[in-house]
Parts: sequence; structure tokens; C-alpha cells
Amino acid sequence: MSNKIIFTNNKLSVPNTIEIPYISGDGIGKEIWEASQPVFDAAIKKIYGVEKKIIWKKCLAGREAYDQTGEWMPEASLELIKAHLVAIKGPLETPVAGGIRSLNVLLRQTFDLFSCVRPIKWVEGVPSPVKNPQNVDMVIFRENTEDIYSGIEWKAGSEKSDELIKFLQDKMGTDTIRFPENCGIGIKPISIEGSRRIVTSAIKYAIKHNLPSVTIAHKGNIQKYTEGLFRDVGYQVAEETFKDQTFTWMQYEAIKKEEGIEKANNALENAQKSGKVIVKDCIADAFFQNSLLNPQDYSVVVTTNLNGDYISDALAAQVGGIGISPGGNINYLTGYAIFEATHGTAPTIAGQKKANPCALLLSGVMLFRYIGWNEVADSIENAIDISIKNKTVTADFNMPNAKIKDTFTFAEEIIKNL
Ligand code: NAI
Repeated sequence: MSNKIIFTNNKLSVPNTIEIPYISGDGIGKEIWEASQPVFDAAIKKIYGVEKKIIWKKCLAGREAYDQTGEWMPEASLELIKAHLVAIKGPLETPVAGGIRSLNVLLRQTFDLFSCVRPIKWVEGVPSPVKNPQNVDMVIFRENTEDIYSGIEWKAGSEKSDELIKFLQDKMGTDTIRFPENCGIGIKPISIEGSRRIVTSAIKYAIKHNLPSVTIAHKGNIQKYTEGLFRDVGYQVAEETFKDQTFTWMQYEAIKKEEGIEKANNALENAQKSGKVIVKDCIADAFFQNSLLNPQDYSVVVTTNLNGDYISDALAAQVGGIGISPGGNINYLTGYAIFEATHGTAPTIAGQKKANPCALLLSGVMLFRYIGWNEVADSIENAIDISIKNKTVTADFNMPNAKIKDTFTFAEEIIKNL
């Protein structure tokens, strides 16, 4: 029998023994992987005994791959992920030269991983810069393939930028480029298809996990045909594809206009009581303000690429930051998924056993939930919570009166708490 996860009829089929490729990563990657893998294996053994297991398949990438093969991302590594569908990775150094913008971007593009999913939740005891971090419990769905990240831009004063600016002025009637002679210029593509697939994924996630709302965060007030399109498609998806499972802010406004605010409030209350997902929107700048002041108002948040980049990091900071933030890059239409610690290679502490393995461990938690091994995910998450509550942590937590552990002793502590 095959040990590979397969995706058929929009569903993952997961055998009891699975092969999963891992990229341990550069810098602190090796340490955090070597500390995390035993935690994953111990949790599987505790929950399933000998019935289920993972065979971890090493996937060469980054500096280690370059030193051994002369390539930062060997074709064989991409093939390995292609064959296994689901993978996990630590941080990768970005090659300074060599024509690769970033290995992470390369992976996202190769597998068209259009959803960057980042759960943001506070763990009791983690120092936070806000007064009530316990109110932060969100999942961000950042669109991963469009927006200004498409890399379509030209340098100020270059032939191409001058040509494009001239085209805009002569053929498109643009007269608002303030200094056209010395102007770098970029293009922001946002499509109906791209917006539809990410919003669909976000709403499906909210329905599956019984979450109360999906907020579309956008700058549609200024960028009407890109960010505005994203918002409009979002509402359209909710009202057409998930008609029976959602209630939208647009529907609320329509009832308010036709029948008055009391009726609209009643409709909203009824929708909430019957477990419908409330789909609303928020201008991105207001979202930053609101998510600091009233984070409890938000659950799933779906947004465009650049907004999502800012929002994910700002929210991660609210719950204690970089060492504990996991992420998943997922294509819900093909099943491909790569889970990753969202921090970098932390070169200044690499090799010193100081690194916090939590971001990678929690990426594993996301992976286990993705493949439906929820008890394993719960067990690891719970064990991390206990270790943090006991103030047994790595130094980066900056926790007062903590018992500081190195990467490996911290991981052993987590295994004890499984
Ligand atoms: P970084 O995340 O490596 O470091 C920022 C700060 O956070 C440093 O003070 C570092 O010591 C600390 N830190 C990060 N992870 C930690 C952990 N697990 N435990 C304890 N402390 C931790 O970001 P930086 O310095 O901007 O990037 C370094 C390298 O990593 C660059 O080559 C960059 O391209 C790459 N990078 C890779 C990413 C990925 O593969 N997903 C993401 C971000 C950066």
C-alpha cells in the first residue's frame, strides 16, 4: 500500500503510515527541526500507538543544498514535494545572487500555493505588548499569488518605466503622475479568479471550524478596481456559493434600507443564532486600529497579498511574536500544502541551541490538523501551553522569572507534557 497522501474529489486521503518531506532549513533550521521531530513522533505514538506513523523524508534545499549540489532548490526536492503533496519546512536563507528572488516564493509559485494561512492566538503566559492579548484569536488568509508581489515594476528613469508612463499619459489619459520624469512604476494585478479562490477557502475554513465571522480587509475605498474588486468578489462568493451558510453585511445594509434598522438587527441576530458565518468587510487601515482596540470582533480575516503581509506580522506581535508564529501555504483546490515556521534563519543565534522551536512545532500542529490527525495537533498544542504556563521556555520569550531552557531541553519538556 502506498504511503502517500493523495487528493481526490476535493478531499485528502491519508494512509496510516505517511511519508512527509521536510526541509529542515538554514541557520537555526537544523536545530529546531531536530528538536521538533521527536515531539511530533512522540505525540503520534501517544495518540495512535503503532497504528499510525510518519516517515519523514529529508528534502534538500537552501544553503545545505547549495553546498552539496550547487543548487539552492534541486529539481529532486521539488519532485519529492510534488509526489507527496504535503510538506513542512524551517526557514531558508535567501540567496543574495543567482536569479532566485526567494526560495519561499519559488515554492509558492511552483505549487500555486495561493493561501497563506496564519493562525494568531495568544498562549497564556507569553509576554505581549497589549493589555488583553487573550482577546486575539484570528486566522489570517493572505492571498499569496497576486498584487504588487507579482514583481511587475520598473526602475525610475529606465527606458521601460519611461515608456510605460508615456503610454499611460498618451493612450490611457493618465494625468496624475506627479513627477513623470523620474518615477519608478509598478503594476498591481488582482483578478476575479484569484480573489474568488482565496475568499472561498476562507469561508469554507470558517464553516468547517464553526467560526463566527469572515472579514474582508481591503483598501477598496482608494483602489477601486483592485482592492475594491477583491471586496466585491468576496461578498459575491458569500451570497452565491455559501448562500445558506452566511449572512453578509451587504444583506444587513439592504434590510436596513428597505425595512429599518430593527429588522436588520433581528436578521443579524437570527443569523448568528443559527450558526451562520457573518461576512463583513473593513478598510485595511481601520482594521489595524480595530484589531488593536477590539480584536474580539474578528475571527477569520481574508485579505490581499500586501495587506496580509503587514496584518500577519502586526497581529503576530500582539500575541508575543516571531518565535511562535506558524504558517501554512496551501492550495485548497489541489491539496498541495507546505507548512512553515514564519521566522527567518536567525543567523546570530544559529548553532547555539538558543532557538525557540515553537513556530515549527505549531506549523506541525497545522499540518496535523490539515491531514485530519486532530488529536495529535491538540496534544502538541496543549503540551506547549503547559510548558509556557510553567515558565519553562527558551530565552527569546523574555518571560520574567522563567526557567530558561535550550532548544532541545525545551522540546523534551514539551514531550513530558504531551
Ligand atoms: P529572522 O526571523 O531570522 O530574525 C529576526 C529576529 O528574531 C532575530 O533577532 C532572531 O534572532 C530572532 N528569531 C527568529 N526566529 C527565532 C527563533 N525561532 N527563536 C529565537 N529567536 C528567533 O529575520 P531576518 O534576520 O530578517 O532574516 C534572516 C534570514 O532569514 C534572511 O536570509 C532572510 O531572507 C531569511 N528569512 C527566511 C524566511 C523563511 O524562510 N520563511 C522568513 C524570513 C526571513
